[in-house]
Amino acid sequence: MTDCCGNHKAQIYFSMNKRAMHLLLPLIICWLLPQAMMLEEDSPLGCVPRRSVPYHRDNANLFREEGVFNYSTMLLREDLDLLLLGAREAVYALDLNNISKKAASVKWEVTQDQEEKCGDKGKDRKTECKNYIRILHKTEDNRMYVCGTNAFDPECDYMSYNDGKLTLEKKAEDGKGKCPFDPSQRHASLMFENNLYSATVMNFLGFEPVLMRSTPGPIRSEFKTSWLHEPTFVSMAEMPESEMSPVGDDDKVYLFFREIAVECDCYNKLMVSRVARVCKGDLGGQRTLQKKWTSFLKARLDCPVLESQLPYIIQDAYRWCDPQRSWRDCLFYAVFTPQSETSDLSAVCVYRVSDISRVFAEGKYKTPVTVETSFVKWVMYSGEVPVPRPGACIDNEARKAGITQTLDLPDPTLQFIKVRPLMDQAIQPIGQKPLLVRRGAAFSRIVVNEVQAGDGEKYQVMFIGTEEGTILKAVNYDGEMFIIEEVQLFQTPGPIKILKFSNVTGQLYAGSDYGVAQIPLATCERSSSCMDCVLARDPYCGWDKAVRKCIPLSSSQREIIQSVKEGDASLCPEADPIKPPNESIWPGGNLKLHCPSPSNLAETTWERDGTTLTPIPRLQFLQDGLLILNASGSDAGRYRCLSVEHSKAGTYTTTVAEYQVGISSTSSGRGNSIFPEAQRDGPSVLGLQVVIGLLVVCLLALLAWNFYKGHLPLPWNCRKKGGKQSQEQGDLNYGDAQRSDKLLVSGRDNGTGTNLTREEAALYAPDENDVPNVNIPSLQFVDDE
Ligand SMILES: *[C@@H]1O[C@H](CO)[C@@H](O)[C@H](O)[C@H]1NC(C)=O
Ligand SMILES: *[C@@H]1O[C@H](CO)[C@@H](O)[C@H](O)[C@H]1NC(C)=O
Ligand SMILES: *[C@@H]1O[C@H](CO)[C@@H](O)[C@H](O)[C@H]1NC(C)=O
Repeated sequence: MTDCCGNHKAQIYFSMNKRAMHLLLPLIICWLLPQAMMLEEDSPLGCVPRRSVPYHRDNANLFREEGVFNYSTMLLREDLDLLLLGAREAVYALDLNNISKKAASVKWEVTQDQEEKCGDKGKDRKTECKNYIRILHKTEDNRMYVCGTNAFDPECDYMSYNDGKLTLEKKAEDGKGKCPFDPSQRHASLMFENNLYSATVMNFLGFEPVLMRSTPGPIRSEFKTSWLHEPTFVSMAEMPESEMSPVGDDDKVYLFFREIAVECDCYNKLMVSRVARVCKGDLGGQRTLQKKWTSFLKARLDCPVLESQLPYIIQDAYRWCDPQRSWRDCLFYAVFTPQSETSDLSAVCVYRVSDISRVFAEGKYKTPVTVETSFVKWVMYSGEVPVPRPGACIDNEARKAGITQTLDLPDPTLQFIKVRPLMDQAIQPIGQKPLLVRRGAAFSRIVVNEVQAGDGEKYQVMFIGTEEGTILKAVNYDGEMFIIEEVQLFQTPGPIKILKFSNVTGQLYAGSDYGVAQIPLATCERSSSCMDCVLARDPYCGWDKAVRKCIPLSSSQREIIQSVKEGDASLCPEADPIKPPNESIWPGGNLKLHCPSPSNLAETTWERDGTTLTPIPRLQFLQDGLLILNASGSDAGRYRCLSVEHSKAGTYTTTVAEYQVGISSTSSGRGNSIFPEAQRDGPSVLGLQVVIGLLVVCLLALLAWNFYKGHLPLPWNCRKKGGKQSQEQGDLNYGDAQRSDKLLVSGRDNGTGTNLTREEAALYAPDENDVPNVNIPSLQFVDDE
């Protein structure tokens, strides 16, 4: 097993780099950039989502309330058809089937007095000294247990939902050790058999991290850096390991977190990812470890990304179990990000519960040894291990020896585990490598759902939330990673802070600081053609020939066309012929023909009257269309936009759009930049046409008057305009710009909803010289609306 401390060299290298950075930076960039490109191209794991869906209010059902923020706690109450949502100073009960419908809400605000006290202790009154709801769990009597940070004085309460009303019972239970003091701190909690397990910091100053079970008698971890060292808690899950256990094992609670490595003799603080676990029946020791866990064991969790020197750190973990099979087959899907700021790769690693459980049950321990006078080094313990095994749950063998509860454990076992909670062996992901690595928005949360596809096989689909408010949908097909789409959920892109899945509604619920979104697992309607539907390789969707629609598998009894592994679209029927809309172009004028590509993996080509066009300065190939500049009679004809996409099964060409372009013979245009919109119906377009018509009439009148007065010379002269444009095009070199755009941007920047590329925007800019720049961000914003 590799050791994280093999990083000695890396650390030195890094600190040296800081000094020499200004010299090395250009070098590093020159060296790294091609490397990064190669990674993108060579690595099968450097994925680009096939489809990028920018924000649109129809992407999801949304909920947010004016002036309320931080929607980061959720409880699914499928028994009540409700989603309970904890935000800042408020709890909401939303309709689980449509979260835009609020069933009830209750405020839990801090008092003026509490806010002042908190402010006096040096915290920010307007932000930190509020009550952030952090814990929401169902209790066995169908009520709910809720805790909030309560102006840096955490408090818990019971809450009930009756007759359409949410009521807090005002029990004012102490929330220390259950809920964080500091709202910006992450925590994890779980209600298991009506006992609350929580991992958080239990004092105001923030240096007492604990893993705690509050009831029946509180049991917690030791305040020792060998147990928890500046941890960030990420998630918790229970595991029914007593079920049909041949050795009479106990159920367990797993905790995922990251912390400063104690076992590392590095110069800098090195963060590592961990999984820890405790036994459900743990009551603490009699004298040693009194009211402390006797079963707290932890191990390093590896997610080896390429040659990265520093270990990746865990951001979230999701337990996925097949309800038909034993807990041993459960998996933990975890998302990781780098701990250095220099990388924008994120990864998903998957762990078998049985692998984790084996390390705890059979693995070797690490032990501290003092070298020199005060320096402590952690090495593998190779001495004798006491019986019962330290950290093990009470099992049949212990019971045979008369040890029926942890209170009976002998002192050597307890002394051993008190000093050595860390396992020697690290836990490796399935396949010893990540399932998915991606450059772009950092992963923040993950949920996994299994679906049976048309081929009868079951696939685990990952839904990954990012720091930029998007959700990725990804599947692994026999080792090939495929990202079906990336969807922007929120108008204000902020990190996805919580992600939940309901197997009753089949919907996902995502929370951010600005709102909550509910999205279905299947969004087949985004594909309008059979080809697109099949090439999307979405296991939830297929093409129904009878209704000619891409529909969810679950909603159809008929045979559908789907090919998730191969992307074989050869069974697709001929697409309906498109009746091309007529477009007119003025001699010397410009025209944009829209053709939004359905896929980031496809290449778009254009044909005119059956002849393939090549980009020339006058014919610009944009990401979403074709721009014809300074048109002439030869530009008339029938235009077809083709999307060419490769899949394992072959290369497929689809007609995405078609236009019949004619030259308008009216002399009114005078080469002005009039951009006829792509066909769109509706009164607003009609209105626009009327206005333009009036303007043209006015212009003509004005011109006639000018000629009459001799203010303008004849013949007409468009030189100035044409000259400027060709200069702009010379700078652009369009084909390259577009290609690199795709490579670098599509991973990071999709979902911002840009339909105008920078170059395009420059072309759309008014011609006057006093407007040299176009404000791209504002264009994006307008586009988002
Ligand atoms: C959800 O509820 C909102 C508010 O009542 C409504 O406007 C919207 O159409 C509903 N959405 C769906 C998908 O039913
Ligand atoms: C709460 O939301 C605001 C955004 O409105 C954000 O700036 C702040 O960091 C959030 N606070 C916490 C504790 O999440
Ligand atoms: C949903 O999952 C729970 C366990 O989390 C399981 O008990 C239940 O049967 C599942 N329901 C459906 C409809 O699959």
